[in-house]
Amino acid sequence: MLSLSHQIATLSYRTSYRRAYRTPYRTAHRISRNERLHSSNTALFTSKKERRDNIGRAKAVDRGQYNNSYVHTPNRPLSGLPPLTSPYTVLGIETSCDDTGVAIVRSDGVILGEALASQVDVHEGYGGVVPGLARQAHEANIQPTIEAALSRAEMSAEDVDGVAVTVGPGLEICLRVGCEVAKEIAVKHGKPFVAVHHLEAHILMSRLGTGGVDFPFLALLVSGGHCQILRCEAVGEYEVIGGTLDDSLGEAYDKVARMLGLPVGGGGGPAVEKLALKGDHTKIKLPIPMQHRKDCDFSFAGLKNAFRMAVSKLKDFREIPQSEELELQDKADLAASFQHAAVKHLEQRISRAIVGTTTSTSPTATPINQLVVVGGCASNQAIRSSLSSVCSSHGWKMYAPEARLCTDNGVMAAWAGVLKFNDRTSDKPEGQEVYARYPFASYKKL
Ligand code: KG4
Ligand code: ZN
Repeated sequence: MLSLSHQIATLSYRTSYRRAYRTPYRTAHRISRNERLHSSNTALFTSKKERRDNIGRAKAVDRGQYNNSYVHTPNRPLSGLPPLTSPYTVLGIETSCDDTGVAIVRSDGVILGEALASQVDVHEGYGGVVPGLARQAHEANIQPTIEAALSRAEMSAEDVDGVAVTVGPGLEICLRVGCEVAKEIAVKHGKPFVAVHHLEAHILMSRLGTGGVDFPFLALLVSGGHCQILRCEAVGEYEVIGGTLDDSLGEAYDKVARMLGLPVGGGGGPAVEKLALKGDHTKIKLPIPMQHRKDCDFSFAGLKNAFRMAVSKLKDFREIPQSEELELQDKADLAASFQHAAVKHLEQRISRAIVGTTTSTSPTATPINQLVVVGGCASNQAIRSSLSSVCSSHGWKMYAPEARLCTDNGVMAAWAGVLKFNDRTSDKPEGQEVYARYPFASYKKL
């Protein structure tokens, strides 16, 4: 049974879904980027009705609601370009959340050097990322991490051919640490500079190196902040065809980990996945979300509530005061049940997206028959193998980056930089800002 608040959210979403391609969405798109950039108000949806119509819409979808929207413009090298005559190198910096990631990647996809300063220990005791502490840790770690990555590549900052940095979305105070340092390096050494969108960087990891996937493809982006299905046509050309109405998948994993008293310092996903391996999902039945919804959207709030109730019931049944004190086997069964329902939900939505994509692609266009799974949760083996089977059953191929490169890292910033430089584009380091909210794709109903 869905919670009342979830039912209300679903109802308003249904209404907004029907209207999405009428007034508010189209109006938003007729507003030029310039107007948006110069609007004094960050939210264009000012009336109650407009705000209501957009409840449950993925935040990364560009409906003109924020001052800044990501725009990729090929052939606009504002701070020069690396020489394209032979393989070139890019220094990438990522500080959007709780890991300081730096890497030097060559334009043929070879990782020359990388370093990651994890903040697992910093946030462990708080049950989630504390922004102020994350910023302090980035400030302390950024220079040593850059030095470690450069020394592993046997290079100095002068030797790299370009600098790339994540500028959004993410925690603003954290993004700023990486962005300021990247700007400084680019200006000091006169290097081409490129601003990177974090979600695009996750998606583009599927094209890293020689084993990468060619456009066009569908992407399932499952991270701590987002859960979306996107149709990806080229660098900078993305359409969201489904998104979460409430929580992201990573958030749901993190909350489940907290409810079971598991370690959540670097995200609860790995701990839940490990525990689920020892559990039996048939012991506790949890509902698979939105089975009858004829779209490609997601919802994890109802599942999260059902999970909370299941934990509470089991705790009462065992007559113990705290759910953290449940026996390991009970916790494992709970973890397995959550993962089973979450994965089934992903399978069903991806199946719909595959069928919808196949039938909606014009016979003259390049057919899409590959799915890439990216973002932190893509490192989960159960998700990878179940989605791989769904793809095979439709005659599609599935690709996911190496597990360690699914979670945030410096390689993704450097590699996105390479693909943007290859498109003959770069940004001015002077005045480059960071954006907590940074919508990057339009929305299309399949
Ligand atoms: O992409 P990411 O590193 O950061 C964001 O951009 O948000 O994703 C972090 C999220 C966390 O919520 C974490 O719990 C989840 O990815 N995650 C996993 C696994 N590894 C990380 N979720 C499920 N299974 C995993 N093995
Ligand atoms: Zn991420």
